[in-house]
Amino acid sequence: MKKIKIHIKNSVHRDYPVYIGIDLLEKINSLIDLSKYSKAIIVTDRNIPLKLVQDLQIALPIANSVVVLGSGEQNKDLDNVKKILKTLKNFGCDRKSLVINLGGGVIGDIGGFAASIFMRGIDFLQIPTTLLAQVDAGVGGKVGINLLGIKNLIGTFAQPIAVIINVNTLSTLPRRELISGFAEIIKHGLIADKKYFKQVTSKKPQEFSQKELIEIITGSCRIKASIVSQDEKENNLRKILNFGHTIGHAIEAISQENNKPLLHGEAISIGMVAEAKISKLLGLLSDEDCAVVKQSLNKTGLPTTFTAPVNNVMEKIKSDKKNVKGEFGFTLLEGIGKAVINKTADKSVIRKVL
Ligand SMILES: NC(=O)c1ccc[n+]([C@@H]2O[C@H](COP(=O)([O-])OP(=O)(O)OC[C@H]3O[C@@H](n4cnc5c(N)ncnc54)[C@H](O)[C@@H]3O)[C@@H](O)[C@H]2O)c1
Ligand SMILES: [Zn+2]
Repeated sequence: MKKIKIHIKNSVHRDYPVYIGIDLLEKINSLIDLSKYSKAIIVTDRNIPLKLVQDLQIALPIANSVVVLGSGEQNKDLDNVKKILKTLKNFGCDRKSLVINLGGGVIGDIGGFAASIFMRGIDFLQIPTTLLAQVDAGVGGKVGINLLGIKNLIGTFAQPIAVIINVNTLSTLPRRELISGFAEIIKHGLIADKKYFKQVTSKKPQEFSQKELIEIITGSCRIKASIVSQDEKENNLRKILNFGHTIGHAIEAISQENNKPLLHGEAISIGMVAEAKISKLLGLLSDEDCAVVKQSLNKTGLPTTFTAPVNNVMEKIKSDKKNVKGEFGFTLLEGIGKAVINKTADKSVIRKVL
């Protein structure tokens, strides 16, 4: 088992552990001291294997209330926040109760958000069960939901008491979801670590052994933890994690409106290719490295192209939270393993790339 400590500056929760390994749910009591909690509720979705919920309840008898939400992004909404808050209230939870989020990024985001506002904030534990959530959503303390058709419009910064990454949960994950998680893994390599990038693109996702996957997940968590620890609230450094996300989020939203939804990692893959091209057009990235970005994503099995009217994509980019004073804000690449924040690109450059 691997253990990483995340130390957040200027935060109430000064540091918390991330455990990565196999069969960790059974051992949960030996990993974290949960004796101070009188009650715990589990938030999960209907696709999460029942066995995981049961393992958790056997190990943690105080977790005898379970909220099961529908699966998918459309459930990351206010109605489901209310459902969780109502369960917390009806179950008699107080400020010393714990919310355990057992699921993908949707469950982590919504359960974490509900916990962060119930009685002005109670503790929560992240147990991410998708690869994407294990390397990205589960670690970092951004929680929130979609509102008025805008992704993550409301939310809070709230750090969990711990993150438990039980790698055997990936055995039931559909292959498409596994590959989607690799988009964020490759992103971590592209923005921060060339050697890691080479390691994670050396084979197709399904060819990595469980041991190699543990190494890879640990590598990604280390990169993300190091960034988040230095800049919890995304004032500067944390923005490097946004590489591929300005255009990626626009494409993700359009794909949902067209009823052919892309998975988050798939949209980010296309966004990374587009933003690598912007980096190239602005003279930051060499032709060769720009080509490497696309080839590596293709090799992993991720999509790298998308068809949509340019005006639609431009409209979506306009409502991106990363824009400041009407300028389109990007995190771009200066090389493989090196990102640069606070770059703006002219509309004509973005149009050309699209
Ligand atoms: N907070 C953050 O920092 C952050 C970062 C990245 C992404 N996100 C958010 O995360 C969400 C995407 O996360 P996701 O890709 O995990 O999506 P998800 O939570 O919708 O999970 C994907 C699918 O896999 C199913 N599933 C989950 N675990 C499973 C398992 N072990 N076996 C079988 N099926 C399983 C789910 O039911 C769902 O159908 C988005 O809402 C995104 O905004 C948040
Ligand atoms: Zn992402």
